[in-house]
Amino acid sequence: MKEPVVIHKGLDNVYVKESKICFIDGEASKLFYRGYSIEDLAEHSTFEETAYLLIYGSLPSKQQLKDFENRIQSNRSLEPELLQLIRSFPITSDPMDVLRTAVSALALYDPQPTTEKIEERIDKAVRILGKAPTIIAAFDRLRNRKEPVPPRPDLGHAADFLQMLTGETPDSYDAHVMDVALILHAEHEMNASTFSCTVTASTLADMYSIITSGIGTLRGPLHGGANEAALRTVMEVGDPARAEDYVTKALGEKKRIMGFGHRVYKTWDPRYVILKKLGAELASRKGETKLFDTAVAIEQSALRHLAGSPIFPNVDSYSGVVFHTLRIPTDLFTPVFAMSRIAGWTAHAIEYLEANRLIRPKALYVGQTSLPYIALDSRAG
Ligand code: ACO
Repeated sequence: MKEPVVIHKGLDNVYVKESKICFIDGEASKLFYRGYSIEDLAEHSTFEETAYLLIYGSLPSKQQLKDFENRIQSNRSLEPELLQLIRSFPITSDPMDVLRTAVSALALYDPQPTTEKIEERIDKAVRILGKAPTIIAAFDRLRNRKEPVPPRPDLGHAADFLQMLTGETPDSYDAHVMDVALILHAEHEMNASTFSCTVTASTLADMYSIITSGIGTLRGPLHGGANEAALRTVMEVGDPARAEDYVTKALGEKKRIMGFGHRVYKTWDPRYVILKKLGAELASRKGETKLFDTAVAIEQSALRHLAGSPIFPNVDSYSGVVFHTLRIPTDLFTPVFAMSRIAGWTAHAIEYLEANRLIRPKALYVGQTSLPYIALDSRAG
Protein backbone atom coordinates (compact mmCIF):
# COMPACT_ATOMS: atom_id res chain seq x y z
CA MET A 1 0.00 0.00 0.00
CA LYS A 2 1.22 3.50 -0.84
CA GLU A 3 2.37 5.65 2.14
CA PRO A 4 -0.04 8.55 2.74
CA VAL A 5 1.43 11.87 1.58
CA VAL A 6 2.35 14.20 4.41
CA ILE A 7 2.34 17.90 3.57
CA HIS A 8 4.72 19.91 5.76
CA LYS A 9 2.96 23.26 5.53
CA GLY A 10 5.48 26.02 6.18
CA LEU A 11 8.13 23.24 6.25
CA ASP A 12 7.79 23.30 10.06
CA ASN A 13 10.37 20.96 11.63
CA VAL A 14 11.68 19.79 8.24
CA TYR A 15 15.48 19.48 8.27
CA VAL A 16 17.06 20.41 4.93
CA LYS A 17 20.73 19.89 5.79
CA GLU A 18 23.24 19.22 8.54
CA SER A 19 24.90 22.42 9.68
CA LYS A 20 27.78 23.57 11.87
CA ILE A 21 26.90 27.26 11.66
CA CYS A 22 24.28 28.10 14.26
CA PHE A 23 22.61 26.37 17.17
CA ILE A 24 19.53 27.70 18.95
CA ASP A 25 18.18 26.15 22.12
CA GLY A 26 14.82 27.85 22.32
CA GLU A 27 13.93 26.28 25.67
CA ALA A 28 17.19 27.32 27.36
CA SER A 29 17.62 30.81 25.88
CA LYS A 30 20.85 29.84 24.10
CA LEU A 31 22.27 30.91 20.75
CA PHE A 32 25.67 29.86 19.40
CA TYR A 33 27.47 30.87 16.21
CA ARG A 34 29.97 28.14 15.25
CA GLY A 35 29.93 26.99 18.89
CA TYR A 36 30.54 30.42 20.46
CA SER A 37 27.82 31.90 22.64
CA ILE A 38 26.12 35.06 21.43
CA GLU A 39 26.89 36.64 24.83
CA ASP A 40 30.66 36.10 24.34
CA LEU A 41 30.55 37.33 20.77
CA ALA A 42 28.56 40.44 21.73
CA GLU A 43 31.02 41.21 24.51
CA HIS A 44 34.35 40.39 22.86
CA SER A 45 33.94 40.23 19.07
CA THR A 46 33.29 42.69 16.26
CA PHE A 47 30.95 42.34 13.32
CA GLU A 48 33.88 41.75 10.96
CA GLU A 49 35.31 38.99 13.18
CA THR A 50 31.86 37.41 13.58
CA ALA A 51 31.32 37.47 9.81
CA TYR A 52 34.69 35.74 9.35
CA LEU A 53 33.75 33.17 11.99
CA LEU A 54 30.41 32.44 10.31
CA ILE A 55 31.81 32.21 6.78
CA TYR A 56 35.11 30.40 7.45
CA GLY A 57 34.05 28.34 10.48
CA SER A 58 36.68 29.39 13.03
CA LEU A 59 37.90 32.53 14.75
CA PRO A 60 40.57 34.31 12.68
CA SER A 61 44.19 34.87 13.68
CA LYS A 62 45.27 38.51 14.06
CA GLN A 63 46.59 38.55 10.48
CA GLN A 64 43.51 36.79 9.06
CA LEU A 65 41.25 39.31 10.78
CA LYS A 66 43.30 42.26 9.54
CA ASP A 67 43.17 40.90 5.97
CA PHE A 68 39.43 40.25 6.21
CA GLU A 69 38.76 43.75 7.59
CA ASN A 70 40.82 45.19 4.72
CA ARG A 71 38.90 43.13 2.18
CA ILE A 72 35.56 44.40 3.52
CA GLN A 73 36.82 47.96 3.81
CA SER A 74 38.32 48.05 0.31
CA ASN A 75 34.97 46.93 -1.08
CA ARG A 76 32.98 49.59 0.75
CA SER A 77 33.15 52.30 -1.93
CA LEU A 78 30.71 52.14 -4.83
CA GLU A 79 31.57 52.09 -8.51
CA PRO A 80 30.54 55.44 -10.11
CA GLU A 81 28.11 53.52 -12.35
CA LEU A 82 26.36 51.97 -9.36
CA LEU A 83 26.13 55.31 -7.56
CA GLN A 84 24.73 56.79 -10.77
CA LEU A 85 22.13 54.01 -10.84
CA ILE A 86 21.12 54.71 -7.22
CA ARG A 87 20.85 58.42 -8.07
CA SER A 88 18.34 57.47 -10.79
CA PHE A 89 15.99 55.71 -8.33
CA PRO A 90 12.83 57.59 -7.27
CA ILE A 91 13.49 59.17 -3.86
CA THR A 92 10.20 57.65 -2.70
CA SER A 93 11.56 54.11 -3.21
CA ASP A 94 11.44 51.68 -0.34
CA PRO A 95 15.06 51.26 0.87
CA MET A 96 14.67 47.44 0.76
CA ASP A 97 13.79 47.70 -2.94
CA VAL A 98 16.86 49.89 -3.41
CA LEU A 99 19.13 47.42 -1.60
CA ARG A 100 17.71 44.42 -3.49
CA THR A 101 18.07 46.16 -6.87
CA ALA A 102 21.55 47.54 -6.17
CA VAL A 103 22.89 44.19 -4.92
CA SER A 104 21.50 42.52 -8.02
CA ALA A 105 23.06 45.25 -10.19
CA LEU A 106 26.48 44.64 -8.59
CA ALA A 107 26.71 41.53 -10.79
CA LEU A 108 26.68 43.81 -13.84
CA TYR A 109 29.87 45.51 -12.66
CA ASP A 110 31.67 42.27 -11.91
CA PRO A 111 33.56 41.03 -14.99
CA GLN A 112 33.04 37.43 -13.87
CA PRO A 113 30.01 37.18 -11.56
CA THR A 114 29.68 33.42 -11.92
CA THR A 115 32.18 31.03 -10.43
CA GLU A 116 31.95 27.60 -8.87
CA LYS A 117 35.16 28.01 -6.82
CA ILE A 118 34.28 28.43 -3.15
CA GLU A 119 37.02 31.01 -2.39
CA GLU A 120 35.95 33.12 -5.38
CA ARG A 121 32.32 32.84 -4.28
CA ILE A 122 33.35 34.15 -0.85
CA ASP A 123 35.12 37.07 -2.59
CA LYS A 124 31.85 38.01 -4.29
CA ALA A 125 30.01 37.76 -0.98
CA VAL A 126 32.59 40.01 0.73
CA ARG A 127 32.13 42.50 -2.10
CA ILE A 128 28.38 42.58 -1.40
CA LEU A 129 28.93 42.67 2.39
CA GLY A 130 31.30 45.63 2.01
CA LYS A 131 29.01 47.63 -0.26
CA ALA A 132 25.65 47.05 1.46
CA PRO A 133 26.07 49.78 4.13
CA THR A 134 27.26 52.25 1.49
CA ILE A 135 24.24 51.53 -0.72
CA ILE A 136 21.81 52.01 2.18
CA ALA A 137 23.48 55.18 3.47
CA ALA A 138 23.91 56.69 -0.02
CA PHE A 139 20.24 56.22 -0.85
CA ASP A 140 19.14 57.72 2.46
CA ARG A 141 21.28 60.81 1.84
CA LEU A 142 20.10 61.19 -1.76
CA ARG A 143 16.42 60.98 -0.80
CA ASN A 144 17.10 63.73 1.72
CA ARG A 145 18.73 65.79 -1.03
CA LYS A 146 22.19 65.41 0.44
CA GLU A 147 25.31 64.12 -1.29
CA PRO A 148 26.44 60.59 -0.33
CA VAL A 149 29.34 60.51 2.13
CA PRO A 150 32.26 58.30 1.06
CA PRO A 151 33.43 55.45 3.31
CA ARG A 152 36.41 56.02 5.62
CA PRO A 153 39.24 53.48 5.80
CA ASP A 154 39.92 54.25 9.47
CA LEU A 155 36.44 53.14 10.61
CA GLY A 156 35.02 49.67 11.26
CA HIS A 157 31.93 48.44 9.44
CA ALA A 158 29.40 49.65 12.04
CA ALA A 159 31.01 53.04 12.67
CA ASP A 160 31.47 53.65 8.94
CA PHE A 161 27.80 52.93 8.28
CA LEU A 162 26.76 55.55 10.88
CA GLN A 163 29.34 57.96 9.46
CA MET A 164 28.07 57.52 5.88
CA LEU A 165 24.48 57.93 7.08
CA THR A 166 24.93 61.06 9.19
CA GLY A 167 28.08 62.62 7.74
CA GLU A 168 29.55 62.75 11.26
CA THR A 169 32.08 60.56 13.06
CA PRO A 170 29.94 58.53 15.48
CA ASP A 171 30.43 58.59 19.21
CA SER A 172 32.38 55.45 20.17
CA TYR A 173 29.53 54.07 22.32
CA ASP A 174 27.04 54.53 19.44
CA ALA A 175 29.47 52.68 17.15
CA HIS A 176 29.81 49.90 19.72
CA VAL A 177 26.02 49.50 20.02
CA MET A 178 25.69 49.41 16.23
CA ASP A 179 28.45 46.82 16.02
CA VAL A 180 26.76 44.58 18.61
CA ALA A 181 23.40 44.98 16.84
CA LEU A 182 25.06 43.77 13.62
CA ILE A 183 26.55 40.77 15.48
CA LEU A 184 23.13 39.89 16.92
CA HIS A 185 21.44 39.98 13.51
CA ALA A 186 24.21 38.23 11.54
CA GLU A 187 22.81 34.71 11.70
CA HIS A 188 19.82 32.72 12.93
CA GLU A 189 19.81 29.21 11.52
CA MET A 190 17.40 28.04 8.78
CA ASN A 191 14.87 30.89 8.73
CA ALA A 192 12.88 31.92 5.61
CA SER A 193 15.50 34.17 3.99
CA THR A 194 18.36 31.74 4.70
CA PHE A 195 16.32 28.94 3.15
CA SER A 196 15.65 31.16 0.15
CA CYS A 197 19.41 31.72 -0.28
CA THR A 198 19.99 27.99 0.11
CA VAL A 199 17.45 27.14 -2.61
CA THR A 200 19.11 29.60 -5.00
CA ALA A 201 22.58 28.29 -4.09
CA SER A 202 21.44 24.73 -4.79
CA THR A 203 20.90 25.65 -8.46
CA LEU A 204 24.59 26.72 -8.59
CA ALA A 205 23.49 30.31 -9.24
CA ASP A 206 25.97 33.13 -8.53
CA MET A 207 26.39 34.90 -5.16
CA TYR A 208 24.57 38.03 -6.38
CA SER A 209 21.47 35.97 -7.15
CA ILE A 210 21.80 34.15 -3.81
CA ILE A 211 21.98 37.32 -1.69
CA THR A 212 19.31 39.05 -3.78
CA SER A 213 16.97 36.12 -3.01
CA GLY A 214 17.65 36.56 0.70
CA ILE A 215 16.92 40.28 0.61
CA GLY A 216 13.65 39.67 -1.26
CA THR A 217 12.53 37.14 1.33
CA LEU A 218 13.60 39.22 4.33
CA ARG A 219 11.55 42.13 2.98
CA GLY A 220 8.22 40.57 4.01
CA PRO A 221 6.51 41.84 7.17
CA LEU A 222 6.39 38.34 8.68
CA HIS A 223 10.19 38.21 8.65
CA GLY A 224 12.27 41.37 8.67
CA GLY A 225 9.69 44.00 9.49
CA ALA A 226 8.75 43.23 13.11
CA ASN A 227 11.19 45.72 14.67
CA GLU A 228 9.56 48.58 12.76
CA ALA A 229 6.16 47.46 14.04
CA ALA A 230 7.48 47.19 17.61
CA LEU A 231 8.89 50.71 17.46
CA ARG A 232 5.62 52.05 16.04
CA THR A 233 3.79 50.51 19.02
CA VAL A 234 6.20 52.08 21.52
CA MET A 235 5.84 55.47 19.81
CA GLU A 236 2.04 55.24 19.70
CA VAL A 237 1.91 54.39 23.42
CA GLY A 238 4.32 57.30 23.93
CA ASP A 239 4.48 57.23 27.72
CA PRO A 240 5.16 54.52 30.32
CA ALA A 241 1.96 55.51 32.14
CA ARG A 242 -0.13 54.44 29.11
CA ALA A 243 1.50 51.02 28.68
CA GLU A 244 -0.84 49.03 30.92
CA ASP A 245 -3.97 50.38 29.20
CA TYR A 246 -2.48 49.63 25.78
CA VAL A 247 -1.51 46.05 26.63
CA THR A 248 -4.83 45.27 28.35
CA LYS A 249 -6.79 46.60 25.38
CA ALA A 250 -4.57 44.94 22.74
CA LEU A 251 -4.65 41.51 24.38
CA GLY A 252 -8.38 41.90 25.08
CA GLU A 253 -8.88 42.42 21.32
CA LYS A 254 -6.66 39.36 20.62
CA LYS A 255 -3.99 41.56 19.05
CA ARG A 256 -0.32 40.57 19.21
CA ILE A 257 2.20 42.60 21.14
CA MET A 258 4.99 43.32 18.66
CA GLY A 259 8.43 42.24 19.86
CA PHE A 260 6.89 39.33 21.77
CA GLY A 261 6.77 35.64 20.93
CA HIS A 262 9.01 33.54 18.72
CA ARG A 263 8.71 30.36 16.68
CA VAL A 264 11.86 28.92 18.27
CA TYR A 265 12.39 30.71 21.59
CA LYS A 266 9.87 29.67 24.21
CA THR A 267 11.71 31.69 26.84
CA TRP A 268 13.89 34.84 26.74
CA ASP A 269 15.49 35.51 23.37
CA PRO A 270 19.17 35.88 24.38
CA ARG A 271 19.59 38.68 21.82
CA TYR A 272 16.83 40.62 23.58
CA VAL A 273 18.72 40.41 26.89
CA ILE A 274 21.88 41.88 25.30
CA LEU A 275 20.09 44.59 23.34
CA LYS A 276 17.95 45.72 26.27
CA LYS A 277 21.06 46.28 28.41
CA LEU A 278 22.78 48.26 25.66
CA GLY A 279 19.59 50.18 24.91
CA ALA A 280 19.28 51.27 28.56
CA GLU A 281 22.86 52.57 28.59
CA LEU A 282 22.44 54.25 25.19
CA ALA A 283 19.23 56.01 26.25
CA SER A 284 20.74 57.25 29.51
CA ARG A 285 23.94 58.47 27.80
CA LYS A 286 21.83 60.45 25.34
CA GLY A 287 19.47 61.67 28.05
CA GLU A 288 16.54 60.33 25.99
CA THR A 289 14.95 57.74 28.22
CA LYS A 290 11.21 58.18 27.57
CA LEU A 291 11.02 55.87 24.56
CA PHE A 292 13.12 53.21 26.27
CA ASP A 293 11.11 53.50 29.50
CA THR A 294 7.89 53.13 27.49
CA ALA A 295 9.24 49.95 25.89
CA VAL A 296 10.11 48.62 29.35
CA ALA A 297 6.63 49.46 30.67
CA ILE A 298 4.97 47.66 27.72
CA GLU A 299 7.23 44.67 28.29
CA GLN A 300 6.50 44.49 32.01
CA SER A 301 2.79 44.80 31.49
CA ALA A 302 2.79 42.17 28.71
CA LEU A 303 4.85 39.80 30.85
CA ARG A 304 2.28 40.11 33.66
CA HIS A 305 -0.62 39.44 31.29
CA LEU A 306 1.13 36.59 29.46
CA ALA A 307 2.57 34.94 32.59
CA GLY A 308 2.39 31.16 32.26
CA SER A 309 2.49 31.24 28.44
CA PRO A 310 5.62 30.60 26.33
CA ILE A 311 5.46 34.15 24.96
CA PHE A 312 8.51 36.22 25.92
CA PRO A 313 10.15 39.33 24.52
CA ASN A 314 12.23 38.76 21.36
CA VAL A 315 15.13 40.75 19.87
CA ASP A 316 12.70 43.11 18.14
CA SER A 317 11.24 44.45 21.37
CA TYR A 318 14.31 46.71 21.72
CA SER A 319 16.09 46.69 18.35
CA GLY A 320 13.73 49.33 16.92
CA VAL A 321 14.17 51.57 19.97
CA VAL A 322 17.97 51.15 19.78
CA PHE A 323 18.11 51.89 16.03
CA HIS A 324 15.84 54.92 16.50
CA THR A 325 18.07 56.24 19.30
CA LEU A 326 21.03 55.82 16.93
CA ARG A 327 19.11 58.15 14.53
CA ILE A 328 18.53 55.41 11.96
CA PRO A 329 15.32 56.10 9.99
CA THR A 330 12.62 53.50 10.65
CA ASP A 331 12.43 52.25 7.06
CA LEU A 332 16.15 51.44 7.16
CA PHE A 333 15.75 48.90 9.98
CA THR A 334 15.14 45.96 7.63
CA PRO A 335 17.96 46.98 5.23
CA VAL A 336 20.28 47.18 8.27
CA PHE A 337 19.12 43.69 9.28
CA ALA A 338 19.92 42.52 5.71
CA MET A 339 23.35 44.17 5.69
CA SER A 340 24.26 42.12 8.74
CA ARG A 341 22.53 38.87 7.70
CA ILE A 342 24.57 38.75 4.45
CA ALA A 343 27.20 37.05 6.65
CA GLY A 344 24.85 34.25 7.72
CA TRP A 345 23.34 33.86 4.24
CA THR A 346 26.82 33.47 2.77
CA ALA A 347 27.87 30.93 5.41
CA HIS A 348 24.79 28.77 4.73
CA ALA A 349 25.08 29.01 0.94
CA ILE A 350 28.74 27.97 1.05
CA GLU A 351 28.05 25.15 3.53
CA TYR A 352 25.22 23.84 1.35
CA LEU A 353 27.33 24.02 -1.82
CA GLU A 354 30.03 21.90 -0.20
CA ALA A 355 27.58 18.97 -0.33
CA ASN A 356 25.15 20.30 -2.88
CA ARG A 357 21.88 18.72 -3.92
CA LEU A 358 19.40 20.65 -6.02
CA ILE A 359 16.42 21.52 -3.82
CA ARG A 360 13.34 20.26 -5.56
CA PRO A 361 10.39 19.50 -3.25
CA LYS A 362 7.00 18.34 -4.47
CA ALA A 363 3.48 19.71 -4.54
CA LEU A 364 0.59 17.31 -4.08
CA TYR A 365 -1.57 17.79 -7.16
CA VAL A 366 -5.26 18.03 -6.28
CA GLY A 367 -6.53 19.48 -9.60
CA GLN A 368 -8.15 17.78 -12.60
CA THR A 369 -6.48 15.94 -15.48
CA SER A 370 -7.35 14.97 -19.09
CA LEU A 371 -9.74 17.88 -19.67
CA PRO A 372 -10.77 18.32 -23.32
CA TYR A 373 -9.27 21.55 -24.73
CA ILE A 374 -12.00 24.12 -25.48
CA ALA A 375 -11.43 26.45 -28.43
CA LEU A 376 -11.38 30.16 -27.45
CA ASP A 377 -14.56 30.92 -29.46
CA SER A 378 -16.46 28.13 -27.75
CA ARG A 379 -15.76 29.24 -24.14
CA ALA A 380 -18.48 30.78 -22.00
CA GLY A 381 -18.24 34.52 -21.22
N1 ACO B 1 1.31 38.78 21.60
C1 ACO B 1 0.22 38.14 22.06
N2 ACO B 1 -0.07 36.87 21.80
C2 ACO B 1 0.80 36.19 21.07
C3 ACO B 1 1.97 36.76 20.57
C4 ACO B 1 2.22 38.12 20.87
N3 ACO B 1 3.30 38.75 20.39
N4 ACO B 1 2.66 35.83 19.86
C5 ACO B 1 1.95 34.71 19.90
N5 ACO B 1 0.82 34.91 20.62
C6 ACO B 1 -0.25 33.93 20.89
C7 ACO B 1 -1.08 33.72 19.64
O1 ACO B 1 -2.14 34.66 19.57
C8 ACO B 1 -1.55 32.31 19.83
O2 ACO B 1 -2.60 32.33 20.76
P1 ACO B 1 -3.87 31.32 20.58
O3 ACO B 1 -3.27 29.94 20.68
O4 ACO B 1 -4.77 31.70 21.70
O5 ACO B 1 -4.43 31.61 19.23
C9 ACO B 1 -0.36 31.64 20.50
O6 ACO B 1 0.38 32.68 21.14
C10 ACO B 1 0.55 30.90 19.53
O7 ACO B 1 0.80 31.78 18.42
P2 ACO B 1 1.55 31.32 17.10
O8 ACO B 1 1.50 32.39 16.08
O9 ACO B 1 1.09 29.96 16.69
O10 ACO B 1 3.02 31.16 17.68
P3 ACO B 1 4.33 31.15 16.88
O11 ACO B 1 5.34 30.61 17.80
O12 ACO B 1 4.20 30.50 15.58
O13 ACO B 1 4.55 32.73 16.61
C11 ACO B 1 5.47 34.79 16.05
C12 ACO B 1 5.74 33.35 16.52
C13 ACO B 1 4.94 34.79 14.61
C14 ACO B 1 6.81 35.54 16.07
C15 ACO B 1 4.46 35.46 16.99
O14 ACO B 1 4.88 35.34 18.34
C16 ACO B 1 4.21 36.94 16.65
O15 ACO B 1 3.42 37.24 15.76
N6 ACO B 1 4.88 37.88 17.39
C17 ACO B 1 4.75 39.28 17.14
C18 ACO B 1 5.65 39.71 15.97
C19 ACO B 1 7.11 39.69 16.33
O16 ACO B 1 7.55 40.22 17.36
N7 ACO B 1 7.93 39.10 15.44
C20 ACO B 1 9.40 39.07 15.61
C21 ACO B 1 9.92 37.69 15.81
S1 ACO B 1 11.66 37.77 16.08
C22 ACO B 1 12.34 37.90 14.55
O17 ACO B 1 11.75 37.63 13.56
C23 ACO B 1 13.76 38.49 14.46
